Order: sequence, then structure tokens, then C-alpha cells
Amino acid sequence: MSKTPKKLPNDPSTTGHSWDGIEEFNNPLPRWWLWTFYACIIFALGYSVAMPAWPLLNGATPGLLHKSTRADLEADLERFDAMNAPVEEKLVNTDLAAIAQDPELVNYTQNAGAAVFQTWCAQCHGAGAGGQQGLGYPSLLDSDWLWGGTIDDIYFTVTHGIRNETDPDGEARYSQMPAFGTDGILDEEQIAQVVQHVRQISGQDFDADLAKEGAAVFEENCTSCHMEDGTGDKSQGAPNLTDAIWLYGGDVATLTKTVHDARFGVMPNWNTRLSEAEIRAVASYVHGLGGGQ
Ligand code: HEC
Ligand code: HEC
Repeated sequence: MSKTPKKLPNDPSTTGHSWDGIEEFNNPLPRWWLWTFYACIIFALGYSVAMPAWPLLNGATPGLLHKSTRADLEADLERFDAMNAPVEEKLVNTDLAAIAQDPELVNYTQNAGAAVFQTWCAQCHGAGAGGQQGLGYPSLLDSDWLWGGTIDDIYFTVTHGIRNETDPDGEARYSQMPAFGTDGILDEEQIAQVVQHVRQISGQDFDADLAKEGAAVFEENCTSCHMEDGTGDKSQGAPNLTDAIWLYGGDVATLTKTVHDARFGVMPNWNTRLSEAEIRAVASYVHGLGGGQ
């Protein structure tokens, strides 16, 4: 027994459906809505013809306009390469030492070199090039150089790397401190003595008795690389032991381990991974960080 609702004289006609006595007016769609809807359909058809739209097995239909963001990107990259080509060519053909005198090259190497550094060097030498003390990754900001801080030295180090076996030219910088303990060259007592001598020459607390004996051990075993006064030898990558700058550490335990086992810091060669221009850019960038000589 459903009640039929009262129909007013001006009401539009109904669709004829009735749910539990509820009926639906048959109102026409608003004109503005309908035309927007048609316009959308026309736009979509036009768009799918003009632009890449329909997926194919490989890629999509190209569309009449042949629009491709990938191609746009490639074109942009090509444009940048072409823009940089003249300055890169100049960089490759300029004497390393003369790069710092050319404002255009300085500007370029600062930017391109910093980008190369963040991509390839920062994971070891730190984003700010401050190194990672204790892990054997040297700071490149100070004037304490293992292998030399002229632009030519730095360029050579970056090109061939250090103690690697991957440099195709076989010119990686190389030297090897003996493992005085492991190889039985010094006994534990002599090592304890020489460690105190190193503590002394690096300006730290030291045991005077041990250090006195240690000076003789040092004289006999260490000066061929670290020099009489302990200031090191760049031609062998032997660090200066008299400054407070440590690759591995200046505390007694670390020094003992270094002398007992020796260290073997390795840096990859970059000549197989970076272009000549990139190596020159990053070498100039490092040289310009403050410690360059
Ligand atoms: C996998 C780690 C690693 C990466 C990556 C790396 N280095 Fe090194 N780098 C080292 C180590 C380790 C040493 C010190 C080797 C030693 O004990 O003689 C070093 C030393 C150097 C030196 C010599 C410092 C001195 O005092 O003479 C320079 C210059 C240098 N790196 C520059 C770079 C540049 C530029 C890059 C990027 C293109 C780079 N390094 C990437 C590990 C790395
Ligand atoms: C054949 C050359 C050579 C001799 C001999 C030698 N060293 Fe070294 N020493 C090196 C080199 C090269 C390094 C750097 C190793 C590296 O970078 O991985 C080094 C590193 C060190 C370090 C680490 C410094 C730091 O910054 O952490 C200490 C300490 C040290 N040597 C002490 C000695 C003592 C003490 C002796 C003598 C008992 C000695 N060395 C003999 C070549 C030598």
C-alpha cells in the first residue's frame, strides 16, 4: 500500500521508475554541463591523435606532433655538451699550471669539478672534501699532502690512483710500509718504544723512557721513508708524522696497529671512468680548495 506522492502541476515528467513510491524526475542535463562534456570528448580525440597516446608493443603511437620528453631531454643534453665543447677543448689543451690564470677555465673547473667531486669522490673524501679521519681517507683541504699538492701532482694522483692494480698504464702511485710486527722485523717492546717516539715528535703525551729507546728504533727502521725528523717523503707517499693530522690515528692503540700491521690505502684510478676534461676539472677544483701549492 504505497502512497502516491502528490504531484504538483509544474513538476517535470518522471522517468517512470518507482522505488517504494519514490519517483525520479526526468530533468534534462544542464546545457553548460553537456557542452563541456562534448568538448572534453573532442579534446581527448584530438589529443590522442596529436600526442603520443596509444600504447604499442614498443613505446606508443608518436602522435602527429611527435612530441617526446625523452627526445627533448636528449636534445637539451646535446645542447649543453655543444655549449661546453669549446671550453672543454680549451681545458684539455691548456697547460695544467696555466689553468688557474684563465678566468673562463677557473669558472668552468670550479663548477664542473665540484659536480665530478660530489659524484665520484665525496663517498671517500667527504662531501666537503674534509676526508674521514681514522679511515685513511685524507682531507683534501689542508696543505698536508701525501703525494704532493701541485696541480701536476694532484692530476697524476687522480688519473692513476694509489696502490691499485687497475690502472691500465700501471702507473698508480705505489709504496708499502713494512708490517714491522707481522713480519717479525720488530718485537713488541721495540714497537711500544717507537710508538712513544712518534707520540713525542707529534707533540702528544709520551713515556720518556720508552721514547728514548724509540728514537733509535725510528732512526734505524723508519727514516728511509718518514725522514730523520719524521716529516715524511712525498715521493713515497710517506706521511708527515710530526703534525696533528692523521690518516689512521695518533693514539697509542692505533699507532701500535699501524706499525705492527702496516697500512695500505688504495684509491682507484680515474682515467678509465672520467674523461680527460673531467679529470682536469676535478684536479683543478681540488687544487683550488685551499691546500693547493
Ligand atoms: C674508494 C675511496 C676513494 C675514492 C672514491 C676517491 N679517493 Fe682519493 N684517496 C683515497 C685514499 C684511500 C687516499 C689515500 C691513499 C694513501 O694512503 O696514500 C686518497 C688520496 C687522494 C689524493 C692524494 C692526497 C694527498 O695528500 O696526496 C687526492 C688528490 C685524491 N685522493 C683525490 C681524489 C679525487 C679527485 C677523487 C674523485 C675523482 C677521489 N680521490 C676519489 C680514496 C678514494
Ligand atoms: C718503506 C717506507 C716506510 C717505512 C720504512 C716506514 N713507513 Fe710508515 N708509512 C709509510 C707509508 C707509505 C705510509 C702510508 C700508508 C697509507 O697511506 O696507507 C705510512 C704510514 C705510517 C703511519 C700512519 C700515519 C697516519 O697518518 O695515520 C705511521 C704512524 C707510520 N707510518 C709509522 C712508521 C714507523 C714508526 C716506522 C718505523 C718503525 C715506519 N712507519 C716505517 C711508509 C713507510
